[in-house]
Amino acid sequence: MTTGQLIVVDHLVTLLGVTAWFAAGATAATRHARLALGLLAAALLLSLERVVTVAILAGRGWWFVQEKVVLGLPMLGVAAAAAVVIAGPRLLAAARRSPGAGTSGGLVPGDELPASSVVSLLTAGYAALAGLMVTLLAGYPLTWSSALIAGSVVCAAALLTARVATAPADPAAVAAPDGGRGFSRRGFIGLAGGVVVASTGTTGVGLMFAPAGSVVTGGGPGPSTRSGAAVSVAQLRGGGAPAPGGTRRRHVLTARTATVRLASGREIRAWTFDGRVPGPPITATVGDLVEVTLRNADIGDGVTLHWHGYDVACGEDGAPGVTQHLVAPGEEFAYRFRADQAGTYWYHTHQASHRGVRRGLYGTLVVTPRRPHGDASAERLDLTLPVHTFDGTVVIGDRDLRTERTARTGTEVRLRLVDTDSEPHRLALAGTPFRVAAVDGRDLHRPGEVAGTALRLPAGGRYDLVFAMPSAPVALVVDDDRAGGLRLRPDDGAGADDSASEDTSGWPQLDLLRYGTPAAVPFGAGSRADRHFTMVLDRGVAMVDGRPAYAQTVNGGGHPSIPDQLVAEGDLVRFTVVNRSLETHPWHLHGHPVLVLSRNGTPSSGSPLWLDTFDVRPGEVWEVAFQATNPGIWMNHCHNLPHANQGMMLKLRYDGVTTPFDGAHTTSM
Ligand code: C2O
Ligand code: CU
Repeated sequence: MTTGQLIVVDHLVTLLGVTAWFAAGATAATRHARLALGLLAAALLLSLERVVTVAILAGRGWWFVQEKVVLGLPMLGVAAAAAVVIAGPRLLAAARRSPGAGTSGGLVPGDELPASSVVSLLTAGYAALAGLMVTLLAGYPLTWSSALIAGSVVCAAALLTARVATAPADPAAVAAPDGGRGFSRRGFIGLAGGVVVASTGTTGVGLMFAPAGSVVTGGGPGPSTRSGAAVSVAQLRGGGAPAPGGTRRRHVLTARTATVRLASGREIRAWTFDGRVPGPPITATVGDLVEVTLRNADIGDGVTLHWHGYDVACGEDGAPGVTQHLVAPGEEFAYRFRADQAGTYWYHTHQASHRGVRRGLYGTLVVTPRRPHGDASAERLDLTLPVHTFDGTVVIGDRDLRTERTARTGTEVRLRLVDTDSEPHRLALAGTPFRVAAVDGRDLHRPGEVAGTALRLPAGGRYDLVFAMPSAPVALVVDDDRAGGLRLRPDDGAGADDSASEDTSGWPQLDLLRYGTPAAVPFGAGSRADRHFTMVLDRGVAMVDGRPAYAQTVNGGGHPSIPDQLVAEGDLVRFTVVNRSLETHPWHLHGHPVLVLSRNGTPSSGSPLWLDTFDVRPGEVWEVAFQATNPGIWMNHCHNLPHANQGMMLKLRYDGVTTPFDGAHTTSM
């Protein structure tokens, strides 16, 4: 079973257990002793089953079970044991006494079960429910705050239940010495208990809002105190001159709203660069100087340009509030960087990107090597295909209909696929064997030919697929939509045909961690990291932009309250990224490619895999590493952009780098 499935099983078993405890309490209260006894047995079995599931889950990693092992199960264990000791014998006796008329073993009138049985059964239910709530709302790491809140809520509920259950019919209360005037002893105990529980709970809530430490060091030294050594991100700018033989590539991109007509004739209200979606493609040859002036005509949120996957100097990175001010309507900002990295990348706004990118503020950036790959005399077809979803329709490039192209047989074809959405896409190339030549812009080492195998392209990710054009048609099928996608026909073949492409929905998926050929890497799984950061991704209640929210969390926190990760220039940095949630999180670090070391404990065994966006699926644990060679303050976030907006974003900051901007990535709700 996958870890994701185990997490679901544990949720379900917990929920069933909660139901069984409450049902046992309710049937005991309505004096159905036999049924209550059966439910008590079921609740016990479910609780024991949880111990087994949690034990297996613990084998997948402590992050998945910590709050269950430390709080949830012990709390449930104590309450369940109390319920067995208090209610068990009484239910058993009552069941024996009952005439056995009904299957539920209803008691004859006047034959009461003591209230304590009902209270103990319901309390086990509260404990089970509180454990589930801690898992769903707080998660990892378990804090004093959530433990105190959970404990006091269970106690408060138990006290309240005891009061209600004993209030009218309990003769002891009537016989209280003060005859009901002022406080009875029982009332006093209840009140005192209430005060203790309330203050414990309040402490827990108070702790929840206590500010977290603003920086974590990952086991490395803390911030240096040398004064005068600080450098501002505003000084970390790119540029200079093109390399010898290179040219300047100047662009002006104007962000504005526009109505865009798609190939089918459908019109969409989009946010665009220069009135187009995608924005104008930016291309360069290695060594060129790219100069882009961004102007904002009328995007009220403001805009910036982030060069996704391109390791520009930090001041060019386009993180509003961190590396620059956002560009408001009527303003502009000039970006400049040397195109030293070949490959397929993309650009997009980084301000309110969950809205801006979705509506169209993105485009592609493709840098080709000085000397093209392969046979210089061969004919080439090089297509850049950003895949984006507008109102539920997949648009490839600027086409919402199938793209038809012809290519002479033998042509070297390169398809550069870019996922500009927040969800992954399934890609299948039918009609030819192919190679995945590059992932996230970086070439793979000796990638083998594959056929009949699909690919999963993570949000933000890029794949370069290469093949020689065969003498029969080739189809690129996206998300199993056989009517859409791309169709390449040999130019000596028949005319356009609108038949559906081959059914590729059953194809297995390529595992990039086992694809290609190993090669030397500058560091690996055995290297000693200077800093090691663990990021546990989940959902939970956290502060996001100053407001409590049901957030997408990292280590239980939401942006901007997640501590910055501190690194020093030259450090070898390791990340462990754990997904405790039931959603996929495409993790993206700005400014650095990371080398994949392992996934779920299995080392990467194919070509070295350098990624800027890696898809951490439910229950997965990824180990990646990178060298801190690009000083700055870098965003480190989930590239499901709504998730980032809901809190799943933090900063990785180099020691000694400061920002003159307000320091928190701006948001716009
Ligand atoms: Cu493509 Cu921070 O994003
Ligand atoms: Cu996410």
